Amino acid sequence: MNVSTEKDIYILGIETSCDETAASVVKNGRELLSNIISSQVPIHTLYGGVVPEIASRKHIERINQVIKEALASACMELKDMDAIAVTYGPGLVGPLLVGVAEAKAMSFAAGLPLVGVHHIEGHISANYIENKQLKPPFVCLVASGGHSHLVVVKDYGEYEVIGRTRDDAAGEAFDKVARAIGLGYPGGPKIDKLAREGNPYAIDFPRARVEGNDYDFSFSGLKSAVLNYINGCNMKGEEVNTADVAASFQKAVCDVLVEHSIRAVKEYGYDKFAIAGGVASNFALREAFETECEKQGISFYRPAPILCTDNGAMIACAGYYEFIKGVRDDYTLNAVPNLKLGG
Ligand code: KG4
Ligand code: ZN
Repeated sequence: MNVSTEKDIYILGIETSCDETAASVVKNGRELLSNIISSQVPIHTLYGGVVPEIASRKHIERINQVIKEALASACMELKDMDAIAVTYGPGLVGPLLVGVAEAKAMSFAAGLPLVGVHHIEGHISANYIENKQLKPPFVCLVASGGHSHLVVVKDYGEYEVIGRTRDDAAGEAFDKVARAIGLGYPGGPKIDKLAREGNPYAIDFPRARVEGNDYDFSFSGLKSAVLNYINGCNMKGEEVNTADVAASFQKAVCDVLVEHSIRAVKEYGYDKFAIAGGVASNFALREAFETECEKQGISFYRPAPILCTDNGAMIACAGYYEFIKGVRDDYTLNAVPNLKLGG
């Protein structure tokens, strides 16, 4: 079933897979009408990371208000929507369930179609919002707290994962290293900031190559190298220059992400490359990709930082492309914490 796209289509997107309660209204998959994000970061900071049970409870407390605000700031009502799109995986099961249950209840009450969206598909789709000319095929690097995927986006909703992490995700490595150098949670933005004061060439941390698949990533060895370096300094009574550690660690992550991604774009014969996910908001990474893509004649796309971390707009956008293909979910839609992308 293909839906006619002559009429404007408005999608309400809901995202609750981790620690952001988010909702957004997007027009025709590309135009952002509202984007409300209620972050739980200050609560989880107390515990040094996301506590799933607390996250679920906070989503329940906030979701109605966040959706209300998303509709109000788009100057629209629920009845004006054409469908409700919601993240149903991957993510934390409790938080996912809150969004899925809310979307199902609203879909039933308002008689609106329901579209379940893959969280990673959402991250990739954030690129469509700001880059109106971007169309598949292209290669996308998705680097978040839970995933480091190199994906060939063959068409809307059609993905081939060609590389993935064997251990820690890139964002996870940022978070763990940040904790080790006393920056706390969430680590990515704090390392990003501190690294600007440090020397990225001060410490030669390893760039891991993975046997078997040249596109796969591994960050746990790098994380251990940083911990060993800090322990070594402590044992010798030397002061740790945390800015240099942050900058050198960040450079090691960026080098690997850039090298793998650019090689994939060239070997697969594409001329477009996009980044997505929380780590894609990293200043040094964006700069490194800009420079390298320009050098290689590759068009480079990246969402604004606010659309890189979890948000409802990316879910509305991905939901739009599923909706116009005729994808509909019924009330058996359930949270799938380990949902795979592209089979
Ligand atoms: O995509 P996201 O909001 O949630 C997941 O789907 O995981 O990504 C969160 C991750 C966290 O690990 C966070 O530390 C990292 O993205 N992150 C960053 C930056 N901002 C967020 N990592 C590096 N630099 C940043 N500026
Ligand atoms: Zn995410």
